[in-house]
Amino acid sequence: MSAGGSSINTAHKTQSSPAIENAIDRSAPNFTAAVEKDETTYFDTNPPPPELEEFSRIAEEFVNLHCAHQRRVVLVTSGGTTVPLENQTVRFIDNFSAGTRGATSAEYFLEAGYAVIFLHRQFSLLPYSRHYSHSTNCFLDFLSEAPTDGSRHTIVAREEYTAKMISVLRKYKHAKREKLLLLLPFTTITSYLFLLKELAMKMRPLGGKALFYLAAAVSDFFVPRERMAEHKIQSGEFAEKDGEMEFINPAGPGSGKKLIIDLDPVPKFLKRLVESWAPEGMIVSFKLETDPKLLIKKCNMALKRYSHHLVIGNLLQTRKYEVVFVDQDSQYWLRLPQNTEEETNGGKFAGKQDSEIEALIVPEVVRRHGALIWHVVAATRSS
Ligand code: PMT
Repeated sequence: MSAGGSSINTAHKTQSSPAIENAIDRSAPNFTAAVEKDETTYFDTNPPPPELEEFSRIAEEFVNLHCAHQRRVVLVTSGGTTVPLENQTVRFIDNFSAGTRGATSAEYFLEAGYAVIFLHRQFSLLPYSRHYSHSTNCFLDFLSEAPTDGSRHTIVAREEYTAKMISVLRKYKHAKREKLLLLLPFTTITSYLFLLKELAMKMRPLGGKALFYLAAAVSDFFVPRERMAEHKIQSGEFAEKDGEMEFINPAGPGSGKKLIIDLDPVPKFLKRLVESWAPEGMIVSFKLETDPKLLIKKCNMALKRYSHHLVIGNLLQTRKYEVVFVDQDSQYWLRLPQNTEEETNGGKFAGKQDSEIEALIVPEVVRRHGALIWHVVAATRSS
């Protein structure tokens, strides 16, 4: 990451530093938590998503409805944020998250009596429909043609799936009928941050009944607006000749051309969420690592840096079977029971089939949220 200059350019080998050790500028100051000035700069210099006003209005109505019912409300963030490389975006940087953690957790929060604002990456997994979407669970596989009487054709759920489907359908219909689930999509890192801030502000009337469950995989680096290419990045250069645009210097093997992307760090806004946007809510963040030796250390670093309530650590490889709850006082592992050797068919599946780690995570978060609300009420009464 280097300061200044255009973010993206094609350059000759001699001008670039492609080696991995040069990819991040280690002389730059460490990633620190964002302060008010970073917030002002970021939100003043990057464009808000066009749907901000509409989502804000819908969220306000949702919060008012559930405030009136004294219901707890959780904001679940889910899926990955993109980093566009062009203003008229053709290409972007993305990450692996499919939104499984967020969509699954949202269902368990609904079961626990919460209303859920589901801030998710567009087209990632959604509560309830996740059981029948995406490539591994194509909804067509759950259907079959029923016997027909002449010209009429009917489609029904296949017998073996009916029991589960009815259960999912009932829960889905209930959440819809009672207006318990609000789905709000984002795509880019900037949209996500604008919406996170806006929703946190709208949730303030909930006081301690607001819970933030930040499972989205948020980009650490981005291309600031002022350095973003307007149009699709070209692989070579164009020059005008006789009134026509002519393609010169195309990139190709041996041409020495490279695409160098110069990214700035995204301000660490969790601190602003804790201190300013949602000072009364309970805040739970997730930490993803791939190196087991780093996980607990990084969770503790996040707690220290942001002073929020809880970090849930997970490793990429085992995130579906185990997580660790890290708070100021303790570390606590939650694990799915293991299958027997026979059940795993030679160790292919690590957790119990059909069981979901979110069924353990969410009740524990709900319990801690309840305890926090109780402490605040007790402290208010005694003062
Ligand atoms: O969707 P799945 O496939 O089921 O995967 C789920 C998951 C592995 C993505 C999820 O369980 C998870 O771990 N999510 C967090 C991933 C992560 O470590 O993100 P992060 O390091 O970018 O952010 C950690 C925390 O810092 C987050 O709570 C985030 O809100 C916060 N953050 C991040 C960036 C930023 N600029 N400011 C922040 O405050």
